[in-house]
This record gives sequence, C-alpha cells and structure tokens, in this order.
Amino acid sequence: MNPAPAHFQNHLPRHVITGRGAALSLAELCRSHGWKRIFIVSDAGVSGAGLLEKVATPLKAAQLLADTFAEVPPEPPIDVVDTIAGRITACGADAVIALGGGSVMDAAKVAALCALHGENAREFVGIGKAGGRGLPTLLIPTTAGTGSEATFVAILTEPATGNKVGVVDPCILADIAIVDPALTDGLPAHVTASAGMDALVHAIEAFIAKVATPLARGLALEAARRIGRALEIVCREPHNTAARDDMAIGSHLAGMAFANSSCCAVHALALPFGGRFHIPHGVITGCFAGEMMRHNAPACAEDFAAFSMALGWGAMSGEAFAAKLDALAKSIGLRAQLHKTTVPAEAIAAMARDAVAIRRLMDPNPREVTEAVAARIYLAVLSVVP
Ligand SMILES: [Fe+2]
Repeated sequence: MNPAPAHFQNHLPRHVITGRGAALSLAELCRSHGWKRIFIVSDAGVSGAGLLEKVATPLKAAQLLADTFAEVPPEPPIDVVDTIAGRITACGADAVIALGGGSVMDAAKVAALCALHGENAREFVGIGKAGGRGLPTLLIPTTAGTGSEATFVAILTEPATGNKVGVVDPCILADIAIVDPALTDGLPAHVTASAGMDALVHAIEAFIAKVATPLARGLALEAARRIGRALEIVCREPHNTAARDDMAIGSHLAGMAFANSSCCAVHALALPFGGRFHIPHGVITGCFAGEMMRHNAPACAEDFAAFSMALGWGAMSGEAFAAKLDALAKSIGLRAQLHKTTVPAEAIAAMARDAVAIRRLMDPNPREVTEAVAARIYLAVLSVVP
C-alpha cells in the first residue's frame, strides 16, 4: 500500500442525487437553483431510446427548456463543443443538463465553460486552465461506466490529428450529478459489459495509484463491493434491477475515486491504442487490466488482497487477481470484442512509446512501466499480425 500524501485535496460534485426515477422530475430542482432557461446536451442513441423525451418533457411543460442539442458524436471532436457553446449562448440558457455517456457529459462540461467565458474550447485544454466555473451543470449518466458525472476531466478529440486532449480543472465539476439507474435498464449487453468493466478498472487504479487519497481508497472499495457482486449478473440478466442499481452507483463511486486519485497504466496503454483502432474504451481497459495487474503485483500484494476481498473474490495473490480479471474479461465477452480487430506488428513499438509518454497516467502507477513492458503487454493481449 502506498502511504497517502501528507497533504491532500478532494474534489466532488456539489450535490449528488441517486435513485430510480430521479432524472424524470427536474423542474422543481432547477427552479430551486434559480435556473430558468435550461439547455440539454445529449446524443442520437439517448434520443432514439426515448430517454431525452422523458427528461425534456417535464422541463418543457414547466417552461424551463430553452433548447436541446442531441447530436454529440462518440469521441467528440473539440469543435463540436464550440458549436454547442454557440447554441447555448444563442438561446440565452442559464444552465446546462447533460444526458448521456462520457462523450455527452464531457462535451457539456466544457461547453458550459465556453458559453459563460465567451472562449473557444481549445483555450481550456490542459490542467487548471478554466479560470473559474462555467454555467451551472447538471450531469445525468445513461451508462454505468465512465463516472464522468463525478470527475473534473473532459476528454475531447483534436480532429486534425486524431489525438485526445483533456480539459482538467475542478471548475468543471458538476453542480448536480443525478445517478438514476433506471436510465441504464435498456443498455445493450455489449455496452453494459464494456462500461461496467471500465468502472471496475477505474476503481482498481484509483485504489492502487501512488496519489490515492484516503477518501478515494474508501470510495474505490465500496465501488468494488457493488461492481463485484453485480457485473457478471447484469451481463447475464440485463433486467436484474438490483444489479443495474449496483452498477450505476458503483461506477459513480469509482468515478469519484479516480477523480481524487488517478487512473494509471491501464489507461495509459488504452489511449494510443484507442486512438488508432476505434474499439470501445471499456473493451480495451478491461482486456489490458489482467496483464497490467500481473506486472504491478510485486508492488501491490496488500492492496490486491484487500481489493479482491471487497469484490467478494476472497483475499487473492497478485497472480490469482490478474488471472481472475483475465477470466472476467473473457466471460463477459470483452476478449471476443477485442479480437475482432487485428493489429499490425509494426504498430506496437509506436503505441508503447506513446503510452509511456503519458506521464499523468504512468507516474501514479505503482510500478514503473517501460516501453519494453508496454510492448510486451500489447503483444500478450492483442491479436497481432505480421
Ligand atoms: Fe476508463
């Protein structure tokens, strides 16, 4: 176990509401904050599933809905954020609701900042560049995985290069986060599996990171308790509402955990690979987790025993923990999803170099990851062709 830093800070959303149906009656809540013109950010999938209408209709009836943008694409290009901010400004909105997965929430967090400050999104890329809070935000996840409603990170894509860029600042934390597990009831099985496994990886990495605060470690263990008892069940039984509830709350707690700690080397390996091959983020992190924890094991014996206990797996050795993560990625179908894509051998060295260069994720990792280690893990996990 890494000793907690002598001084630490924790950042959390200002107000968190959880419960089935919590997202369906927002008019009173918005009025109580003095918000009179609400802008909703969402995407085609959420809209197509009928969730946007459910959230928007009561706001419209209460004459609080100013406008809606429901076209956020996956891995949102940074220019989309400027488009959204322009729409927010044009309709005179005074608060922003995000209804969707990580892409929607990330785009909305930065758009709320741009709209209030009158700047382009690129001005805020980097760490601590916000210069104050943006318009108030109410973030509502519709998947159980990203934890974006609990974090102060927004990941966007620079379209010219395809590179991921981050806006990282406590000023983009939600004013209100609403975790309504009912919104996840209709998620397809492959999304349930990949998002759920990503939440598990967030909890593991938040727990073992060198920079973990005591609060983050406690949140990560409670996330593990819920995800451990629910993930395989919810993948098998999508209508099991108790398991859906556990996954929604667990992924939210895991988001809070890594916001007050860090993600580590699994996420560093995922970024250059995900940038080159468009595979769902949770498929990637879920499949790399076992091999990376095998590498981390010499530095994490005590932590892995405590974490696997919380998951309900008993106090495991590093090797047993890594093997169980591998087996889980296989049993919920992530391996099969990953191996639909083949990776040319010549891409490995460049990805390993890029991964090791992501110091904000590599430095907190409990054991050093060299380019050789990163390349070995890519080769061990991916379907590599000459
Ligand atoms: Fe992740």
